[in-house]
Amino acid sequence: MTEETHVLDSPPPGAATDWTVAQDWSHYTAEEHATWDTLFQRQRALLPGRAADAYLRGLEVLNLSKPGIPDFEELSERLMKLTGWQVVAVPGLVPDEVFFDHMANRRFVAGNFIRRPDQLDYIQEPDVFHDVFGHVPMLADPVFADYLEAYGRGGQRALELGALKQLGRLYWYTVEFGLIDEGDGLRIYGSGIVSSAAETRFALESDSPHRIAFDLKRVMRTDYRIDDFQQNYFVIPGFDALLRATVETDFAPLYGEILAQPDVPVATILPEDEVITRGSQAHAGGAAEA
Ligand code: PHE
Ligand code: FE
Repeated sequence: MTEETHVLDSPPPGAATDWTVAQDWSHYTAEEHATWDTLFQRQRALLPGRAADAYLRGLEVLNLSKPGIPDFEELSERLMKLTGWQVVAVPGLVPDEVFFDHMANRRFVAGNFIRRPDQLDYIQEPDVFHDVFGHVPMLADPVFADYLEAYGRGGQRALELGALKQLGRLYWYTVEFGLIDEGDGLRIYGSGIVSSAAETRFALESDSPHRIAFDLKRVMRTDYRIDDFQQNYFVIPGFDALLRATVETDFAPLYGEILAQPDVPVATILPEDEVITRGSQAHAGGAAEA
């Protein structure tokens, strides 16, 4: 889901030096393919009118020649023609520099395992449904495809500048949990939302979370939670505006500024925020406080 944590320092046995493994499509069981199909049908019914146009257009790329979990080879071939991206399998979370190197070279790393049938609604570690259904449609969009490649290079730079945590928050609040204002209402484009039936509804329809206009420095100062629905979402006015604020902006001086400022805890509203909806925060805590 994010590049934040990793367990191993070197590729596990069977993995290449770049940490990739064979997807081994023929080894998935019928039950595993059925899990994919169930999740896919559920989200496909829920997302029209809720997901961003770019995401809905991109979903088409997942209509492959066979049902079930996508075969990364066929998927990569299709994606390559559209935006030059590929999907490569990795055994789990990989080190930051490996993640960024793949991304800077238009390779999206995806877990190849799928959640168990009793985990349809929630899983903390990203599986193939999150990684492929959540992320790949946006990679079929030329503008977002450029954003993610630039993010990979930005990651390499953030490592050198000691600002990985700050840059990681940008990923979290855009790529994973971003909302966009498409004029006729808010839509979701973040992979963590579009791959979750419950958070799809929560992010758009709940009175609980704050929805705040995207501001780059604000986002890079803001903590996030990994164990429950988000308590604040950030709304971009469009992908062009996101690219202007990120790809076309030199982050080095910004890192200097924000590293000198305090972090912003989740669910905080700052005086300078442009608040779109102020949440009740009725659903705050959840898993963490249960
Ligand atoms: N422009 C950023 C920098 O100077 C890199 C970046 C690009 C970050 C795109 C995020 C997304 O470091
Ligand atoms: Fe993710």
